[in-house]
Amino acid sequence: MRRLGSHRIHGKTGGAGTKGTVAKLSIGVIVLLICTFSLLFSANIRRDPEPTRSSKINVEELWESKNFEYCGRVLSLQPPSAPRSDWPPPTEETNGYLRVRCNGGLNQQRSAICNAVLTARIMNATLVLPELDANSFWHDDSGFQGIYDVEHFIETLKYDVKIVGKIPDVHKNGKTKKIKAFQAMKEHSAIYLTPFSHRLAEEIDNPEYQRLRCRVNYHALRFKPHIMKLSESIVDKLRSQEHFMSIHLRFQMDMLAFAGCFDIFNPEEQKIIKKYRKENFAEKRLIYNERRAIGKCPLTPEEVGLILRAMRFDNSTRIYLAAGELFGGERFMKPFRTLFPRLDNHSSVDPSSEELSPNSQGLIGSAVDYMVCLMSDIFMPTYDGPSNFANNLLGHRLYHGFRTTIRPDRKGLAPVFVAREKGKTAGLEEAVRRVMMKTNFGGPHCHTDSTVVGLGR
Ligand SMILES: *[C@@H]1O[C@H](CO)[C@@H](O)[C@H](O)[C@H]1NC(C)=O
Ligand SMILES: *[C@@H]1O[C@H](CO)[C@@H](O)[C@H](O)[C@H]1NC(C)=O
Ligand SMILES: *[C@@H]1O[C@H](CO)[C@@H](O)[C@H](O)[C@H]1NC(C)=O
Repeated sequence: MRRLGSHRIHGKTGGAGTKGTVAKLSIGVIVLLICTFSLLFSANIRRDPEPTRSSKINVEELWESKNFEYCGRVLSLQPPSAPRSDWPPPTEETNGYLRVRCNGGLNQQRSAICNAVLTARIMNATLVLPELDANSFWHDDSGFQGIYDVEHFIETLKYDVKIVGKIPDVHKNGKTKKIKAFQAMKEHSAIYLTPFSHRLAEEIDNPEYQRLRCRVNYHALRFKPHIMKLSESIVDKLRSQEHFMSIHLRFQMDMLAFAGCFDIFNPEEQKIIKKYRKENFAEKRLIYNERRAIGKCPLTPEEVGLILRAMRFDNSTRIYLAAGELFGGERFMKPFRTLFPRLDNHSSVDPSSEELSPNSQGLIGSAVDYMVCLMSDIFMPTYDGPSNFANNLLGHRLYHGFRTTIRPDRKGLAPVFVAREKGKTAGLEEAVRRVMMKTNFGGPHCHTDSTVVGLGR
């Protein structure tokens, strides 16, 4: 604005000619500028606290899938993760075998598998089908073959890496010899990395390597047909009347203990969480109010309900809850259920499923939750700090056409909820809406060079 104004003024002075006129005009200009600034200033002051502007979350739009033109360009039909430059097939001669054991839950393992493929590619090694740690939180020993479609995995990545089921035995002097470790890589050609999680830098300055990770994550890793079928049947049931929303309600003991958010629980419960924390995580002084203020505490089920209500989702909204048994149980669930009675989880949608009953907390249950959340119309994580489940899904939904996600700003919301607990309930919905308006609901962000984030470009 300022630049436009002074431009016009220059034109006028040029036309006037005499010194006197210039001086008079200059005074006029200064007065004009002062007026303009004070006008702008007062306009700003008046505009800022106006509440009506922040109330425009359109729930109908959130249910719809977005179309495919962004940042001034139409997305091509080519998968975003397809190589853009010269990408030769795996070398004929390999440097040896790479064997890895992936630890953690389903989603930490998922990231580790992507890294294993990329590591094998970089090293010109043959990848042995990754082993999935059975000693993780879920105590599940389904293994890679029990969860993922092996044939599809190998076929999809055939132009990227060579993959084998197991290391062939080496015969020497008629005896069978087991291959051991890295030192043997040159001699016997094999190395075994265990445990294998977060062992490769996330940021790698090679877009083709990042695209390979996306090919593994969003194309090659497909759950076994029975898991896909079960997930699809759950989605069909949930969608039988209309759309549905999925929520990753991360309110389990391990997360609460990790986050150090104890004070909302009764003394009995606190004892249990603190014990778990002591046994599983490094000692650290954690103060609830401080943790909460910086957005480090998972949202409570009631807070999730209040957010959705403030966004004007009504009580007929169908909600699928992923993640296991809630810590604190019904006491925490009840306020949420009162606001949103149509709640489901994988066991309540499909109580007859033999697949899920003996194993509903294990990798298969987690895999079904993953697929239902991926296919849902709206996805909302309640904790995406260190949550592999939430983070993988956010990426996956972004990859498949920017599907709507509601990602509450816990730090922004904390003072609103704290004020509510101190009795300030007036204007609560408006205050929550104002915070939620600033989130982008899973849409793309255009960079200044008009590239689109999430497309591997
Ligand atoms: C892998 O193979 C490529 C292509 O032949 C070569 O340029 C690269 O140096 C090799 N890397 C290793 C670690 O052997
Ligand atoms: C939903 O809310 C309306 C009022 O807004 C109420 O009449 C209705 O009983 C509620 N439905 C359920 C299932 O709670
Ligand atoms: C699933 O929902 C049912 C019925 O609401 C409930 O009894 C059960 O505890 C829930 N299961 C999990 C794992 O949350």
